[in-house]
Formats: sequence, C-alpha cells, structure tokens
Amino acid sequence: MQRDITVRAAVVDDVPFLWDMAWEAAAVAPHVRNMGKETALALPEIRKYLDGWGQTGDSAVVATELGGRRLGAAWYRLFPAYAPGYGWVSEDIPELSIGVIPDARGQGVGGRLLEEIKSLAQAQGYEALSLSVDRANPALRLYERHGFRDAGVSQPSDSSLTMLVRL
Ligand SMILES: CC(C)(COP(=O)(O)OP(=O)(O)OC[C@H]1O[C@@H](n2cnc3c(N)ncnc32)[C@H](O)[C@@H]1OP(=O)(O)O)[C@@H](O)C(=O)NCCC(=O)NCCS
Repeated sequence: MQRDITVRAAVVDDVPFLWDMAWEAAAVAPHVRNMGKETALALPEIRKYLDGWGQTGDSAVVATELGGRRLGAAWYRLFPAYAPGYGWVSEDIPELSIGVIPDARGQGVGGRLLEEIKSLAQAQGYEALSLSVDRANPALRLYERHGFRDAGVSQPSDSSLTMLVRL
C-alpha cells in the first residue's frame, strides 16, 4: 500500500523528529538498540549527524501524512576528512541519513524521501550523495533502486557498505 504523503523541507520544529529518526536508523544495529535511545543518541558517532543542526550544508526533508503527522525524514551533512561519518567519501559529498517510523515502513515513504533529498542535493549543486548501510539491511535494495552503488571504499570484510549516487 502506498500512503498519501507529502514531503516538505524541514523546519526548526522538526529537529526533535530528526533525532527520533536518527535513533530509528542507528537502532538497526542490535548493540545500539540494546543501549536504549537516550544512551545511543549521546554517542559522539551518532550525535555528529545532527549536533548543532542548521550549519552550512545541512539539509533535510520530512514526510507527513494527511493531518501533518510525521512519518519519516532524510537529511544530509558535510563532514571534514579529519572527522568523517561512517559513509564518508569526500569533503564535497554530503552523507545521507534516513529513517521512517516503524508503523509506516514498507509503504513507499522511504522511496519518496530519497527522491526528494536527491532533487534537493542536485539543486544545491552537489555532484553526489553518500551513505553507509549494513550489508544485511534490506534498505540496501531500496538504495540500489534509487541509484546508489558501491562507492568502492569499503572492504569486502566490512559489515557495512558505503554507497554513492551521482546526481
Ligand atoms: C530503510 C527505511 C528508511 C526505508 O523506508 P520505507 O518507507 O520502509 O521504504 P519504502 O517503503 O519506500 O521501500 C521499501 C523498501 O525499504 C526497505 N524496507 C522495508 N521495510 C524495511 C524495514 N523494516 N527495515 C529496513 N528496510 C526496510 C526494503 O528495501 C524495501 O524494499 P524490498 O521490499 O525490495 O526489500 C525504513 O524502512 C527504516 O527507517 N528502516 C529502519 C532504519 C533503517 O534501516 N535506516 C537506514 C539505515 S542505513
């Protein structure tokens, strides 16, 4: 079932929801899920994706259903080479994060978010977006359907794959 959704640019009021979605994305890893939300969101390697949101280069979109309830979000941020994210490729290529609330998954929300965030990045002049995904996460197939490919920086033995989409 495809939901009747709207995808819009994020506003300041959405920032707590972005943190909720950062938890949903991070909690895919069992060791993170077992920590609990508060502890996980205090980890520097997770905080770095949203801390001080609103810096130059930060962009986000939010999917809502009729009535305005938020269903999911996608956002990106640039990272310097000295403090890269998990899916870092270069200082000029923003790294994407995405999450959808559990009861709205598998209904096309993530796909819509990916298309909108790619359009936004292209409009802002970026040549590509990157991301990191666990090789066992079914989301890998979703990313492939939306043009993401192996960025060529992960080792075959790595549990995660860094992917890149050219815009
Ligand atoms: C990954 C995610 C953002 C996709 O959004 P979605 O709205 O469920 O995706 P869509 O309905 O547009 O597309 C369906 C695809 O999403 C993926 N998907 C569906 N349910 C999923 C779930 N519970 N967990 C992870 N991926 C899922 C699959 O690739 C699916 O395609 P498939 O049926 O061919 O396997 C969302 O499922 C989610 O937040 N999952 C948990 C967090 C996560 O894995 N974040 C990404 C970390 S890199």
